[in-house]
Amino acid sequence: MSVIGSPVSRVDGPAKVNGEAHYAGEFAPKDLLYAATADSTCPAGTIVTLDTRDAARAPGVLLVLTHLNADRLPYQEPAERVAVDPVAGAQLRVLDGPAILFSGQPIALVVARTQAQAEYGASLVPAPYDADPPAKLRFDPALAQPTSEAAAKKKRGPETRKGDAEGAFARAPVTLDERYRLSREQHHPMEPHATVAEWTGDRLTLWSKTQWVGNERDEIARRFGLPPANVRVINPYVGGAFGSSLRTWPHVTLAAMAARRARRPVRLELTRRQLFTFVGHRGQSEQHVRLGADPNGRLLATICEATGQTSTYEEFAEPLLGPAGATYACDDRLTRYKLVPMNVNTPCPMRGPGWATGLVAQEMAMDELAERLGMDPIELRLRNYAERDPMKDLPWSSKALRECYAQGAERFGWSKRPLKPRARRDGRDLVGLGMATAIYDSGRYPTSASVALLPDGTALVRCATADMGPGTYTSMTQVAADALGLPLARVRFELGDSTFPPAKEHGGSTTMASVGPAIQEACGAVKAKLAGVADGAPITDFAAVLRRAGLDRIEAEASAKPDDAMKTHSINGFGAVFAEVRVDVDLCTIRATRIVGAYDAGRIVNPKLAHSQCIGGMVQGIGMALFEDVEWDEHLGRVSNGTIAEYIVPVNADIHDLDAIFVDTREPLLNPLGVKGVAELGLCGVAPAIANAVWHATGKRVRNLPITPDRLLTA
Ligand code: MOS
Repeated sequence: MSVIGSPVSRVDGPAKVNGEAHYAGEFAPKDLLYAATADSTCPAGTIVTLDTRDAARAPGVLLVLTHLNADRLPYQEPAERVAVDPVAGAQLRVLDGPAILFSGQPIALVVARTQAQAEYGASLVPAPYDADPPAKLRFDPALAQPTSEAAAKKKRGPETRKGDAEGAFARAPVTLDERYRLSREQHHPMEPHATVAEWTGDRLTLWSKTQWVGNERDEIARRFGLPPANVRVINPYVGGAFGSSLRTWPHVTLAAMAARRARRPVRLELTRRQLFTFVGHRGQSEQHVRLGADPNGRLLATICEATGQTSTYEEFAEPLLGPAGATYACDDRLTRYKLVPMNVNTPCPMRGPGWATGLVAQEMAMDELAERLGMDPIELRLRNYAERDPMKDLPWSSKALRECYAQGAERFGWSKRPLKPRARRDGRDLVGLGMATAIYDSGRYPTSASVALLPDGTALVRCATADMGPGTYTSMTQVAADALGLPLARVRFELGDSTFPPAKEHGGSTTMASVGPAIQEACGAVKAKLAGVADGAPITDFAAVLRRAGLDRIEAEASAKPDDAMKTHSINGFGAVFAEVRVDVDLCTIRATRIVGAYDAGRIVNPKLAHSQCIGGMVQGIGMALFEDVEWDEHLGRVSNGTIAEYIVPVNADIHDLDAIFVDTREPLLNPLGVKGVAELGLCGVAPAIANAVWHATGKRVRNLPITPDRLLTA
């Protein structure tokens, strides 16, 4: 039996539990110094004076860098920006001038012998500001601007149209016209972002938290005007990231600047509070949805106008309207996308970027439409089942969403759900059931990998990818073991070093579909080499072959890249998510007591890891639906609950019965493994399923997520 498809436990699990797994901030080269930053307390304006004398005299402080004494870096522009960076605008240049673009922008860097000394030194940098120009602090869709031409090229343009959506909406016998808002969210992985920088002459080594070592190498090389070969980025373990480590953020530059000036290695680790201002977030959004339908529930018009949030210096545009375009069949459709530029740090992808957010509005709107039609929510979705991708007008490569609805409903017990809301009460609790569709765009990138067969009978497989939690170490070990015909214990997979064969971002749920095939190719190549050396002898015992041939290893590197399938077909993962909530009838507190997701993610390489991904997505979806709310003070221009104590995320006591099942499918076109990717899909659809269940429990619609008790009470 193939090891692909078996529920192997994480091969890196023991190292993580016993402390042998080292994260970026834990690398401590000899003579390491520690850095901390002073950050602006004003959201827009100019630094008037910057007095660093007290900081410089503080105990243990060796260096204070500000825009007055820092090196001006060249910040070379790449020939083409990578997908993880915004398409338009200019990135923040740290310590490059007196201009302040957001509250929390680093204005001084203090390097000291200990972390505490660095932090104390940084606390002694006063900075009066001239608060001009006036800051843009309100998320007001009326202030939004259409996205740029550059965004349009990435399919995040200001408008897409098919047919006559407004006319069809005006004529439709059943209509819905509502606005849905989602609060700003913050990633908050367990491991805070950190970089340790060490120079040897003009060569730089960075131990740095990142989802993409190759891009961090290239980006830092461009910022410092170095050949990429002079920069090495190492990051074997990532303690969660959710998209917050896709870009190379300014703290990486600061660590490298400080280490160069101090002539000693420097570590810069962000505080929890700084995670709100250094590394992006999921911006606030509003979606204005208009749906028109006939009395049988067939959609006649779908219109979605979405407003997102960006910074004043970069345009962060995401596929917020992906679900509005791709989920249901409808001939007359219109989407519009605008952004409100604000004095905030630039937002960035957060798990299921755009899609998870877009689904909140669309799937809540479909639930409301089902209510108006007096129809079961699954029935409404089946009546509008998209047999082709309606937005791209392409066939799906594979789609088993019907099976997801059926199997998920069966597992959840959907058939017992009363159609009417507020129909079930159990003690103090109103009990409600809701569901939503999940969809996420699948992708694949060109990737390389190497395999070395070693004299001890083990194989060493390498690729410059990452593992932020989905289990790359384990799943790739499975793929290599399968391709080489070796037991798992004789395969070691290494990642997270920019000197390894290149991969693109560990993001967008593309890693399995991208890295897996490269490993298969490399394994095929090394087996061919081994066959050449073995000269007809059986090759199961390659250690003996190496001995006889007097070799210390046989090694091969190979690449794999996607073909035209992504142009000729729409390739998406699908799912159906079902939620049960209990709402305290007096206090309006909400518990998500049961969630079931049924997914079509193609072939599942490791059901244990995939299940873990999906129930993790449910936890995050509970956060999105009920808790996570970065409170933005629009007068001060800063986050008012900027700590992990006040930014509420779900904890164990909030988590009850979660289950994920996978319908038996195999994606025929995207890659030879037959996978479509799991990670982002696991968040998609969870929050709207919960919101719909809250309506079903209470009869009240709260269209502002998270649905906090005060909002439900007001409704
Ligand atoms: Mo994911 S938002 O692509 O890291």
